[in-house]
Amino acid sequence: MSVELQSVPRAPGGVPLLGHALKLWRDPLGFLNSLRQNGELVRVDLGTMPMYVATSARLVNEVTVKQARSFEKGRLFDRVRPLVGNGLANAGGETHRKHRRLMQPLFHHQRIAGYAETMSRRVLALAESWTPGQEIAVEQVMGEYTIETLAETMFSADIGRPAVEAVRRNFPVILKYMLIRAASPRFLDRLPIRPNREFDAASESMRRVIDEVIATTRESGQADRPDLLSVLLATRDADTGEGLTDTEVRDELVTILFAGTETTASTLSWAFHELARHPDVEKQLVAEIDEVVGDRAVTIEDIPRLPGVKRVLDEVIRLYGVTLLMRRTTTEVDLGGYTLPAGAEVAFSLYALHRDPDLYEDPDRFDPDRFLPERWAGRGREEFVPFGSGNRKCIGDAFAWTEATIALATILRRWKLRPVPGHTPRAAASAMAHPDHVPMTVLPRDA
Ligand code: HEM
Repeated sequence: MSVELQSVPRAPGGVPLLGHALKLWRDPLGFLNSLRQNGELVRVDLGTMPMYVATSARLVNEVTVKQARSFEKGRLFDRVRPLVGNGLANAGGETHRKHRRLMQPLFHHQRIAGYAETMSRRVLALAESWTPGQEIAVEQVMGEYTIETLAETMFSADIGRPAVEAVRRNFPVILKYMLIRAASPRFLDRLPIRPNREFDAASESMRRVIDEVIATTRESGQADRPDLLSVLLATRDADTGEGLTDTEVRDELVTILFAGTETTASTLSWAFHELARHPDVEKQLVAEIDEVVGDRAVTIEDIPRLPGVKRVLDEVIRLYGVTLLMRRTTTEVDLGGYTLPAGAEVAFSLYALHRDPDLYEDPDRFDPDRFLPERWAGRGREEFVPFGSGNRKCIGDAFAWTEATIALATILRRWKLRPVPGHTPRAAASAMAHPDHVPMTVLPRDA
């Protein structure tokens, strides 16, 4: 068995002690994207620890769906545990199943329809606050929009206010260091270097603020609303009658804030950037929005009638998706012809998978029409998985796409966003391949 494992091809460029960590720090997206050249399963060394990267759609599907029972969440999730504790994205086994059941109703279609009103009202107010010729930092504006929307839909805005401020302050730091931390050898964690100090301080600050929000809500007796915080505080186990501890509630809140803001904000920012570079696509999209929505506010009923908007969002998330996800084997597993022992770290990159030239023709090109039904026909579901798949699939996928569709349709109908000369957005790797900075000028659509 170990002989076979030894023969898993190793990514080039590893160095003693650090392994491939430097390559991952310096150019994470380029490095992850290059791995498929070495094979379907490729060994990357994080310090002295081997990590087996699945580079094909088939193997990612084995890990997340077919053999999901033989995997738990791995090292990446251990490394962000100081921040999100054992929230839904991190928890395993029975705890995961229990909490997922608890939170699922908040993401049901009917609830999303209610959130859609909030999303629409907020983005309309945002679009109406702009003046012709104004310059905006799109990534910041979209970041604020997604945080505020999440706060209002999930936490009731007034209670969530301090949490929103804490997210604004701390998330940029956390996002900056997250991937570095996951890719670093463990011994670096203990060093009092800046990435460690800043990551720990930001995580600590987030947790403290959320703890205060929970305590205030419990004391004020406001825990009877239908929002996430109230549901978490009020829940009781059907068998034991026990509720969640304050730590469990806090972990779920931080997880949702973390998983549900940068992801959608990054997608929207890239969408405006790509549409400005592809005026022909933008023109078609505006015509679709004009016909379906016109001047009124976008509603939940409009969403399925805007297939062009969905294709643009799908294409954006294909190009700029989740960078790196990890799992750990809980038992011996056969993967891609190799036998991995229990405890092996396995990883995959949706960003890299969705740029595989075997799956996508001219993969770096922005071409939403590749998702037209006639062009997409006959392809396997496992080839496009921006929200993951299997039992750990994103709980917020419908929330995210509803929010992004409403925002895009509302803004595009009213404004043309054009890049401010002098800066080309670069993809920076954290949870997502998010843009570093997207300065744009807003021009009236009719002009
Ligand atoms: C463009 C937007 C988004 C993308 C691309 C995205 C992507 C993902 C992916 C790929 C996973 C699976 C991780 C894994 O397999 O290890 C995931 C899980 C998760 N996402 Fe999202 N997400 C987005 C938006 C959201 C939103 C808006 C929320 C909540 C409001 C959310 C909450 C979660 C949670 C709680 C999990 C963990 C689910 C579990 O393990 O049961 N996400 N997301």
